[in-house]
Amino acid sequence: MAKKTTEAAWQIALPLEKLAPGTMRTIKRDGCQLALGCTSEGEVFALDNRCPHEGYPLAQGTLKGRAVTCVWHNWKFDVGDGRCTLGGEGVRTYPVRVHAGQVEVDLTEPDPREFFGAWKDSFDQGLYHHDNGRALRDGVRLLQGGYDPYILLADIAVYDALHAEYGTTHTLPVAADCARFLERRPGVDAMYAIAPAIDICGDSNRRLAVRELPAPIPYAGETTADALRAAVEAEEVELSQALLLGAFDAAVDRATIEGWLYAVLSDHFLNFGHQLIYMTKAQELLDRVPDRYARDIYAGLLYRIVLGTREDTLPYMSGYARRLGEIEDELPQAYRRRNDSAGFDPETVRDAVLDASTEEAFESVWRAIRDGVDPTTIAKALVGAAGRRFYRFDTRLDSDPLVAENWVWISHRLTFSSAVRNATLRFDSPDVLRLLFQAVMFLHSARAMDLEAGERTAVVARPSKPQEILAAIARRDCESAVAGTAALVDDEAGLSELQRGVEELCLAAPLVLPIVVAHAIKTSVAAFEETAALAGHPDRAWPLLATVRFLASPIVERRVHEAVGTSIRWVAEGIMPRKLSQ
Ligand code: FES
Repeated sequence: MAKKTTEAAWQIALPLEKLAPGTMRTIKRDGCQLALGCTSEGEVFALDNRCPHEGYPLAQGTLKGRAVTCVWHNWKFDVGDGRCTLGGEGVRTYPVRVHAGQVEVDLTEPDPREFFGAWKDSFDQGLYHHDNGRALRDGVRLLQGGYDPYILLADIAVYDALHAEYGTTHTLPVAADCARFLERRPGVDAMYAIAPAIDICGDSNRRLAVRELPAPIPYAGETTADALRAAVEAEEVELSQALLLGAFDAAVDRATIEGWLYAVLSDHFLNFGHQLIYMTKAQELLDRVPDRYARDIYAGLLYRIVLGTREDTLPYMSGYARRLGEIEDELPQAYRRRNDSAGFDPETVRDAVLDASTEEAFESVWRAIRDGVDPTTIAKALVGAAGRRFYRFDTRLDSDPLVAENWVWISHRLTFSSAVRNATLRFDSPDVLRLLFQAVMFLHSARAMDLEAGERTAVVARPSKPQEILAAIARRDCESAVAGTAALVDDEAGLSELQRGVEELCLAAPLVLPIVVAHAIKTSVAAFEETAALAGHPDRAWPLLATVRFLASPIVERRVHEAVGTSIRWVAEGIMPRKLSQ
């Protein structure tokens, strides 16, 4: 934090004779409050008197050797550079000298950018220790100094990508989603939107060292795409990352590399679709920041992709996967057969995916593809089906310890379908058709989470103000929240107000665990996005109705007690919770 002081900047603080060795004094000058001190060795120093922790005066602390201790919570600082040797972030130091028997200080404000490096290092330490308080304070210092909040979110995503044990975590989608919230939060208020990303990043990566990346393999031209795909298929973690890094180092453009990653993602349905969701969110975030962030973010994501569970190889998806294998060779030709005037009934696809047999669900989409219906139109029908499936969720499952499924399981049906729709806009390749089939598999396989048909109640719209809907969500009144939303869904102004309120609700953290907060944010962002994307669509309302019902429902967050029973049943009796959808 050292800076060069001009002669004119020095100002007298007090005569040296009034600063006895081994003591500190509070000095106020130009609106600054200093802890001015002299070590027993005669070294004079000046610190910001407000402890960076909670602002108590350091001058009222103790001075031992070169260490100042803030007595309120025992943080310790080195008087030379302000480094915190016990506690959290460091304290600002001021240039000081003894001249003609006077202690002089330089209180001129430096360019805050000079502090960015130190604040950023300290911010990262906050993430490392999952010390939210420290990361938030340093984040506010950065924002106050003019640091770009979008860059800060990208920094957090990079931190996650480089540290996460198995590659990218939910930190990435939370960062991308929270970037949407920045628009209405200027200045330091941006921290309200950034905080969930800080929290989940710290929670996911607590005390994890940087994961080593392999040496890049020099880019070998167009064959790299196939080499990468083969390396991922073979679960060659090092090789696939090395190929990716080599391509970035050869300045292959981001869009090209994203195409490779989409191709890889189309090969398998991974972990409830998380990796595809992360992919679309990575693109969204990277669209807001310089491309240099892509290298690390995609290296982390690729790591997660290679290590992912290939659910299409599990028995519950074997029927769909087998059918996909049978038509695989026809996909390129079918993809080229676009027919804008092809008749398409989204309700037929929706009904098949929701309630028909595996074969009929699959064929409904395959028929539309062969008819030349464009993938985005088909994806919208799947989003509509996802909204309805999500809405049908039997909430009793969430608290049934004998069943694996819960709210988070079902919410992915919507967020994955939304990711597939986004992918159809970004990924121009026959391989995108595989993503549609992944969505069919995922949605259709969730039918066992539905409430029985006889238990479902019709949605009755009841005009309500957005604030009334939000109040209903807050008091867990599902019926009123859903009824109000149903009446509001075609009122664009009301919808915007509701969106702002839901955003605020998610940020105000009525939920506790970072991972549950992440799903509430991710799901509500997808719901409003799909409501906009499905304008004029017969199922437009369902993603939002389902999400409002989700937000208004009690959600079991802590499952430690439940996990005890699960462990006992598994270890002692060999019984795991039933999986209805797998
Ligand atoms: S205020 Fe100084 S350690 Fe807490």
